[in-house]
Amino acid sequence: MFEHLNSQPSDKIMELMAQYAEDTRTNKLDLGVGVYKNAEGATPIMKAVKKSEEILHRSQDSKSYVGLIGSIEFSKNIGGLVLNNSVDDKRLSFAQAPGGTGALHQLLLLARAAKSVGNVWVSNPSWPNHQAILKHLGMNMSSYYYFDETTCEVNFDKMYKDLNDMRENDILLLHGCCHNPTGANLSLEQWVEITQLVQDKNVLPFIDLAYQGFGDGLAKDVEGLNYLIKNVSEAMIAVSCSKNFGVYRDRVGVAIVVSEPAKQHVVQDNLKSLNRLTFSFPPDHGAAVVNQILQDETLKVLWKDELEEMRVNMLDLRERLASELQRETKSERFSFVNKHRGMFSKLGLTSDQVEVLRKDHGIYMVSDSRINVAGLRKDVINYLSSAIASII
Ligand code: LMR
Repeated sequence: MFEHLNSQPSDKIMELMAQYAEDTRTNKLDLGVGVYKNAEGATPIMKAVKKSEEILHRSQDSKSYVGLIGSIEFSKNIGGLVLNNSVDDKRLSFAQAPGGTGALHQLLLLARAAKSVGNVWVSNPSWPNHQAILKHLGMNMSSYYYFDETTCEVNFDKMYKDLNDMRENDILLLHGCCHNPTGANLSLEQWVEITQLVQDKNVLPFIDLAYQGFGDGLAKDVEGLNYLIKNVSEAMIAVSCSKNFGVYRDRVGVAIVVSEPAKQHVVQDNLKSLNRLTFSFPPDHGAAVVNQILQDETLKVLWKDELEEMRVNMLDLRERLASELQRETKSERFSFVNKHRGMFSKLGLTSDQVEVLRKDHGIYMVSDSRINVAGLRKDVINYLSSAIASII
């Protein structure tokens, strides 16, 4: 039977991780997968997470099943963080899911089950797994212009023009903040315009939120999303806790649906059934850890402080990298690095240039020239900048 299987295209981010692991050079630099690293290049467990785990270790007395949609309390706490009361509880349905990817997947299954769904509009470029999952689920896709490769900023006019072609019952996939892979983001004014377009075209907004707190702060990062949610009748949000709680391997995510109150019951029922059909019960441990942090004021303050420290570190690295690149290239070409937000910046290099950086300098970035800013350390910024200056 298995002779009929075809080999699958590999995910370029995962492929890069494997290549990096095999490289024996001691000065190699990993700017690939989106994982936060501290000044020593390590990804330690966040203090609040460690403390929460210790408390759970002492207090948890069973590993029996949780409900099919996981912990409602956890989902509601995450909902509070993401939505900031922008929508009435009667319009919300939740399902815990294995990470942001799990939430994306479950929400697309829900949309597909609704039958009427048209095209799913994906930014060009986007996180490669967006397109891969849509293809896997057999859903129709369209792409919309997003990033200008020359200025390395959002070209909103072109984006808006493309989105004008959306039709009723299409889905518009947006990045909540800290766009992956580009690092270039919509302003609040642009979110307002997109919201109007969503209303006019009667499409379903679907927001992937994986980096809340990594851009301009926990509340500011969701201002656009909150405005949109307040002004539409239906929406879906896939939330990941991987990055902002640093619980990558524990797979902690939430699928959130905003609907008319009359539809809440059926939406909730479908989310539950889709979980049962896909994996039965979502993994509990990471969600229990996060939930405890969000419920305990002391742990919450500890978590927020550390998250803020991480955010400020990333901004500092951006500032240093932009100024070093300016010095090395004697130009303003890379000044956008300091305007981008989140973990990533797409540098606007060709895939050949990226390849030279890898081969000749041991610098690993995704072939579309996305770097993980959080993978940098102050002591290697000069090395990276001079290598980039030497290949452009
Ligand atoms: C990334 O984009 O590097 C992360 O979101 C990790 C992943 O799963 O691709």
